[in-house]
Amino acid sequence: MINQVINIQNVTKSVSIGNSKQTLEILHDISLTANAGEFLSIVGPSGSGKSTLLNAMSGLSKPTSGQVTILGTNPYQLRPAKAAAFRRDQIGFIFQSYNLIPALPAFDNIVLPLRLAHRKVDKEKITQLLKQINFEANPSNFVSDLSGGEQQKVAIVRVLVANSRVIFADEPTGALDTVSRKIIFDLLRHLANQGVCIIMVTHDIEMAAATDKAITLSDGHLEKVIDDPTAEEIFQALNEEKS
Ligand SMILES: Nc1ncnc2c1ncn2[C@@H]1O[C@H](COP(=O)(O)OP(=O)(O)OP(=O)(O)O)[C@@H](O)[C@H]1O
Ligand SMILES: [Mg+2]
Repeated sequence: MINQVINIQNVTKSVSIGNSKQTLEILHDISLTANAGEFLSIVGPSGSGKSTLLNAMSGLSKPTSGQVTILGTNPYQLRPAKAAAFRRDQIGFIFQSYNLIPALPAFDNIVLPLRLAHRKVDKEKITQLLKQINFEANPSNFVSDLSGGEQQKVAIVRVLVANSRVIFADEPTGALDTVSRKIIFDLLRHLANQGVCIIMVTHDIEMAAATDKAITLSDGHLEKVIDDPTAEEIFQALNEEKS
């Protein structure tokens, strides 16, 4: 049993600017580890590199330099088919932009990864989860006909039913009302208590304060790692970075 789920060392990410040969470094020398059962939050201003870091950390976007290890595997050293299978079987990702298929019904979106992995679809469980998070629409409605918050809930349930050992969530409750936010946070907290490693980007300081560790980013730099954070500590860290 590997206890350390994520280990990134000296990760940087550079992107090219437009069509030019110039590059811009948007993540600078970030090192970070996370264990099974740990719930981490990443906070920082808009544009500070949170989504870029999550993508690099989760095997979606190769860093320019540095090491990424997830469950003992470097996802960027796998062949494309193996990398896809590794992500599908081990990693859950709730995207900032949901990444749903608009032309498919909500239910089909939820079960698609399970079908691709030839795994059992527990319809009862899906129905129960949708109910639990107050999804009011009909699961057979097309995603394109759902509200933003409803789409976000579909993306969340898709990850919740996959039994991943690690979940990356990029502002998973950004489009949701307060009650739904709390319910979803509690579901994620429960998964972490059961041993899932969760890395969540959020702008919600109160929510970050309820995680085990808050990481603050500023201009692509990891500024602070706060264990058992309070809202006040996170607020102060973010405020210091500003000045
Ligand atoms: N492919 C790219 N090419 C050029 N610039 C990029 C690219 N990807 C990200 N950036 C820039 O890098 C910075 C970090 O972007 P990122 O999306 O990681 O921010 P974020 O912290 O997730 O912001 P938000 O809170 O708004 O989601 C931004 O300034 C963004 O414009
Ligand atoms: Mg982002």
